[in-house]
Amino acid sequence: MKVYTLLAFLGGATAQTLLPGSTGPYAVSMRNIALTDNSRWDPLASQDEPHKRRFMASLFLPLAPGSCEQTTVPYLSPAEEVAWGLYVESDFGVPAAMIAGYEMEYCQPFANTTKGSSMFPVVIFGGGGGGSRVLYSVQARELASQGYFVITTDHPYEAFFVEFPDGSSVWSNTLGRNDTGLSHTLSQIRSDDVIYIIDNLDTIVSDLPINVNTSAIIQYGHSLGGNTAALTAFRDSRVLGALDMDGHIFGPILEEGSDVPFVLLGNSDINYFFPDNPHMWESFHGPKLYGIINGTTHQTFTDFSVLFDTRGIPPELIEFKEQVLGTISGIRIIELITGSVTAFADFVLRGSPSGLKGLDDLYEEFEVYEDRIPGCNK
Ligand SMILES: *[C@@H]1O[C@H](CO)[C@@H](O)[C@H](O)[C@H]1NC(C)=O
Ligand SMILES: *[C@@H]1O[C@H](CO)[C@@H](O)[C@H](O)[C@H]1NC(C)=O
Ligand SMILES: *[C@@H]1O[C@H](CO)[C@@H](O)[C@H](O)[C@H]1NC(C)=O
Ligand SMILES: *[C@@H]1O[C@H](CO)[C@@H](O)[C@H](O)[C@H]1NC(C)=O
Repeated sequence: MKVYTLLAFLGGATAQTLLPGSTGPYAVSMRNIALTDNSRWDPLASQDEPHKRRFMASLFLPLAPGSCEQTTVPYLSPAEEVAWGLYVESDFGVPAAMIAGYEMEYCQPFANTTKGSSMFPVVIFGGGGGGSRVLYSVQARELASQGYFVITTDHPYEAFFVEFPDGSSVWSNTLGRNDTGLSHTLSQIRSDDVIYIIDNLDTIVSDLPINVNTSAIIQYGHSLGGNTAALTAFRDSRVLGALDMDGHIFGPILEEGSDVPFVLLGNSDINYFFPDNPHMWESFHGPKLYGIINGTTHQTFTDFSVLFDTRGIPPELIEFKEQVLGTISGIRIIELITGSVTAFADFVLRGSPSGLKGLDDLYEEFEVYEDRIPGCNK
């Protein structure tokens, strides 16, 4: 890299960059919560310091625009900026400064804000293995702005870094391990965390200024998080559908099969399912749709593209960005993900297949690889 552009870029990075706002009809408030499941010892904690399973979630609340005050908050906390800076340097070879200094807008509910008449369905989300919920916040906020109560989750000791509200943090002790069955073990732990959230959902939503339909739950995720969505729906019938963004399927679904409504969003770089792993797709016996999004790679489904597009990156990194994150723009991939998740929610929760059936007409990048969704004669 030429030194002058790097310096120019790092110089520019000291100013805060405001990420683009959400586009849906609702304003969005966010709060982070720490959860402790006292019924489980943390299976990943060091044997010298055993403790009950403790993890983090973020709640994204759709609010009437007039019921809250717009505020700007850092995209990452100072400790998260340091940790994820190390991560992108070692995993992607890009300067840590590229993910530092971003801000997002949220809407803080007024003290007098009361629950309106709307009742919002629940969407639970998990990111890629080793990654964090905080690197999908733009995506989660956009989905919430369309009228969904979104819960994003972090899974300590597997995520590279998780920070708790008391300032403590947990670094991964599983990254780089490759023991047989590890991915399945990690997905199982994630799914236990999600089931704990669902068990306690009524309590979690009780003091929020919105009404939540705690019987209307779908789950989606990226990579390992996509596997966990399918696994949780397989284990727990309260999860009514699973959408998997580019995640392999392993674990009991392969042996036993699953009837849960399922959408797979694949990247256009490598088809992980065909021809090599058709049994993953064949394990889903219910309504299902496999869509491939043109111009994507496995990493496209994170917030990284929207970060880099918003501030701009040095010209010499553009080719690298296209290799790692694809050619689709950051705003556009969030639009396609949001459109796919809301269409899937309409199908699962309201029985309406027209949104799913129309995705390839709505988005020119969306190609239906296989459609087993009944209805609409399309
Ligand atoms: C609620 O509080 C906001 C901000 O304090 C104020 O502007 C608004 O008038 C209040 N609304 C009601 C109905 O009291
Ligand atoms: C994974 O483990 C095997 C032994 O079980 C080892 O031979 C291999 O090098 C390891 N791969 C990585 C990427 O660590
Ligand atoms: C809550 O969601 C369930 C499942 O989609 C639905 O059957 C029910 O009608 C919803 N309840 C309300 C009050 O919207
Ligand atoms: C994918 O996008 C590229 C570039 O925009 C285009 O040339 C190509 O035809 C598209 N492929 C499909 C299958 O739509």
